Amino acid sequence: MSVDDFVVTPWHVEGDIDYDKLIKQFGTEKISSELLKKITKITGEDHFMLRRGVFFSHRDLGNLLNEHEKGKKFFLYTGRGPSGHTHIGHLVPWVFAKWLQDKFDVNMYFQLTDDEKFFSKQNLTLEETNKYAFENALDFIALGFDPKKTKIIINTQNISTLYPIAAQVAKKINFSNTKAVFGFTNETNIGMIFYTSLQSAPCFIENLPVLIPLGVDQDPHFRLTRDIAPKIGKPKPSLIHNIMIPALEGPGGKMSASADNGTIYTTDSPNVVKKKINKYAFSGGQPDVEQHRKLGGNPDIDVSYQYLRIFFEPDDMKLKKIYDDYKSGKLLTGELKAILIEKINAFLKVHQEKREKARELVPKFLLENK
Ligand code: TRP
Repeated sequence: MSVDDFVVTPWHVEGDIDYDKLIKQFGTEKISSELLKKITKITGEDHFMLRRGVFFSHRDLGNLLNEHEKGKKFFLYTGRGPSGHTHIGHLVPWVFAKWLQDKFDVNMYFQLTDDEKFFSKQNLTLEETNKYAFENALDFIALGFDPKKTKIIINTQNISTLYPIAAQVAKKINFSNTKAVFGFTNETNIGMIFYTSLQSAPCFIENLPVLIPLGVDQDPHFRLTRDIAPKIGKPKPSLIHNIMIPALEGPGGKMSASADNGTIYTTDSPNVVKKKINKYAFSGGQPDVEQHRKLGGNPDIDVSYQYLRIFFEPDDMKLKKIYDDYKSGKLLTGELKAILIEKINAFLKVHQEKREKARELVPKFLLENK
């Protein structure tokens, strides 16, 4: 691990992340209170994920908003590497992207990188990653994106659209750039080495600036994209980063789609959700009820509380009460978990219905190659 005791790369996240240090390490900017005010002013809403620092960092967002205020258009882009079923952590940037689409009334592109996950995972075939791409698309569509303004890109299906752009990008990135950014070696397969140019391609799919809401682990790709954009006569993409969503077992890792127990999938049944939370969710509580009542719990490290803060309890007053009650010992760990289980299951009940309905909608969303 690095000197900082944490690692954040697109393919590996480990340790207890210090986000202020990460901002310095990556060279991004913290979202300032002025920028927050500006977003609130333009959108007319103070989104809880911004207010609570779930989205905490950006590149060139101020600039993009200034141009927007002058009447300049932009579009949105985000994506997902289909290595398995969608888990609830993945929904964070997508839900936020949906909000942005509603507020700014802009086009949105969603890239499913079945090739990338085939290159980066030893145990997955291309057929499997492609199958997961279609499964993950259902979760994205279920969030309510407008099919007239939203296109899903599947790398292996849309390569003829992506390739001419990727070729422009690839010519400007050399091996030492990608080695420096990703730590590639001579043993790295060449699919991985080329891959950044494919993740860059949707940034230039329209002749307009782009805003990308994304997990901060994906930033390194776009650092390269931003470096080369002027060299191919294109605007640098703007980014807004969310924190990594902790795995159920606790701080020090994002929710990984490959470790079943640490993960709540959007396809989990109410009973499975209940079992996983009760059994695995890392607790900031005391070892027994007596001590908990006396000493209180620590919500700041409690994963159930964090899930409420990040996603499942948008109401600040309710969240504060949970925080205070847990800290004072009035609320027990089992009770806190019960609150979260209920929230997740209520969300998933609706989501899973929409997810089934999405099956018919898929063709409307798939990008057609020209
Ligand atoms: N590489 C991303 C992943 O593994 C998927 C992705 C493609 C993406 N394009 C993106 C993520 C744009 C964020 C923004 O999940």
